[in-house]
Amino acid sequence: MRVLVTGGAGYIGTHTCVELLNAGYEIVIVDNFSNSKPEALKRIKEITGKDFKFYSIDLLNREELEKVFLENEIESVIHFAGLKAVGESVQLPLVYYQNNITGTLILCELMQKYGVKKLVFSSSATVYGDVKSTPILENFPLSATNPYGRSKLIIEEIIRDIGVSDSEWSVAQLRYFNPIGAHPSGLIGEDPNGIPNNLMPYISQVAAGKLKELKIFGNDYPTSDGTGVRDYIHVVDLAKGHIKALEKVMLETGVDAYNLGTGRGYTVLEMVKAFEKASGKEIPYSFVERRQGDISTCFADPTKAKMKLDWAAVMGIREMCVDAWRWQSNNRDGYEVLAKVPVHT
Ligand code: NAD
Ligand code: WQD
Repeated sequence: MRVLVTGGAGYIGTHTCVELLNAGYEIVIVDNFSNSKPEALKRIKEITGKDFKFYSIDLLNREELEKVFLENEIESVIHFAGLKAVGESVQLPLVYYQNNITGTLILCELMQKYGVKKLVFSSSATVYGDVKSTPILENFPLSATNPYGRSKLIIEEIIRDIGVSDSEWSVAQLRYFNPIGAHPSGLIGEDPNGIPNNLMPYISQVAAGKLKELKIFGNDYPTSDGTGVRDYIHVVDLAKGHIKALEKVMLETGVDAYNLGTGRGYTVLEMVKAFEKASGKEIPYSFVERRQGDISTCFADPTKAKMKLDWAAVMGIREMCVDAWRWQSNNRDGYEVLAKVPVHT
């Protein structure tokens, strides 16, 4: 089975490609490296001992993307490619809408043209917007609080419309909660550009001595210790969810959405403590104002994924922190491979 993986060089994409190759799938990766590095692809090969085809292509380039469909017998698509920084999306809404929505439109048009109607799409828990109660079920009302979230919401709606227009389409819209951690090999992991926006990469870099201290956004939320609660999920568990979703779309038609989370929430302070334990490093922190747009508590009800995809997360925060720390300490500067200094004799 040949699977096209868009955004396969990225954080979740690399981990999913490893699982796909290990499960015996043939994959074709498309990525423009706008938020990733070629080294990540080498690492996928190193972990799996398997090879795959790669195209350095922007999804917005219809002609180039069409070649991928012409040159390969693609049967299904896992679509990760997209821009994902919430704050940046507020500054650059047009860039986000163009990249995420137009990119998906071009991809879906080509899929329709070449009769490839099986899709697993990277959605996000962000489509639940300002949630009123937890745990979150798939049938909760959807809304967006920023252009990034709106791009995911619009894509979900576009895909539902495609499904209505043509009953041969089969799509799993996967709503990820907070993916963290890294592959246990320590060879692939999250490699954010510049100063991380998200909690776990920030904590990792504080532990590694690259950043001075963590700023905790708010300690007056109605939670056990006043800090925000999130449903952190190990990226390898998440990657395995894609294999299950792929199996599902190969078997049944229709468009459906699934929460991929653990069903358990942890506060920021609980994550800091867990990371200190896993790394043996102290994480200095201070409290600052709440971050605009943040919600107090967000965690999934993952029952639907369990019932319909036969998938459930198995790893806990200890493994998430141990694996994140292994990746961080083995790769201080992420995938940045230092240029070799020529040796003069
Ligand atoms: P990532 O930035 O690490 O990976 C995305 C990849 O897509 C990158 O390699 C990037 O270079 C590529 N890409 C972006 N635009 C492209 C384009 N126009 N053409 C070709 N390649 C392009 O992000 P990630 O964390 O792996 O996330 C993967 C997907 O999951 C994204 O769609 C993201 O919105 C979604 N998601 C991520 C999270 C999270 O917290 N990481 C949570 C929910 C949903
Ligand atoms: C987690 C908790 C912060 C950083 C984001 C996107 C969401 C999804 C996942 C893509 C919150 C607190 C954080 C810091 C802190 N991505 N925090 N200091 O906001 O739940 O979700 O990533 O779809 O759309 O919004 O994740 O890791 O940024 O924050 O105190 O320096 O950590 O306030 O409570 P978030 P996060």
